[in-house]
Amino acid sequence: MERLRFRPVKLIASDIDGTLLGDDAAAERFRATWKALPKRERPLLIYNSGRSSEDILSLVDANLLPAPDYAIGGVGTMIAEGRMRARMEAFIKELGPPFDAAAITSIMGTIEGAILQAAADQHPHKASWHLHDAERELINDIAARFASAGLDVKLIYSSSRDVDILPRTGGKGSALAWICRELAVDLDEVVVAGDTGNDLEMFEMPHVRGVVVANALAELRRAIAGDRRHYLARASHADGMIEGLRHWGVIR
Ligand code: GLC
Repeated sequence: MERLRFRPVKLIASDIDGTLLGDDAAAERFRATWKALPKRERPLLIYNSGRSSEDILSLVDANLLPAPDYAIGGVGTMIAEGRMRARMEAFIKELGPPFDAAAITSIMGTIEGAILQAAADQHPHKASWHLHDAERELINDIAARFASAGLDVKLIYSSSRDVDILPRTGGKGSALAWICRELAVDLDEVVVAGDTGNDLEMFEMPHVRGVVVANALAELRRAIAGDRRHYLARASHADGMIEGLRHWGVIR
């Protein structure tokens, strides 16, 4: 029973699309399973998604997801408290000055096939583009262009389609680390869950344990292959999450 060596789980941080949502019946099972956990045994629940925090909370209002303690949105560029719902100002400060959108466009606009995502997916600390089936070399080349233009940004490529340009202090892993510090939760008390490359930062955080759902893309599986801290579920979507939470002792 390897898991006995682990500390109890105090906080769960999960991606949404493809992880908790994607199979309606499984999502319903997750909601019921979560609700059935006695309140004092429930870890803190954080959603960590590419969607905006408002969009995340609208899924909660539509009864598709249980209410979270916090919603990290925009690929780690906004954090909202689950009940108060306002974005946390202290985290916005952590992200630094807003982006120079024109400077970003002047680089991305020269990349063949790069198309700006919808206006709703852009904000002062996130610029997102579509770029289908880009090789790693191209992504590295784009990163190098930003660096030589003096733009210190983080580039996240996922689903063989999405390029997210974020502040260095943003990203799903950095945002989660920030809120864990605020809440005084140690990383060895955290379980993360996801399915694509924009979740990788969470899995790379020191000491956290992970759940990778069976439908996860190769870009994530390959990157964490052989890391025994992370549980590869046999089931997909929210059923994989339930299986993973059982593995880590959250659900008995
Ligand atoms: C979500 C966001 C999008 C982002 C993608 C990958 O779909 O809406 O802007 O590029 O996640 O992180």
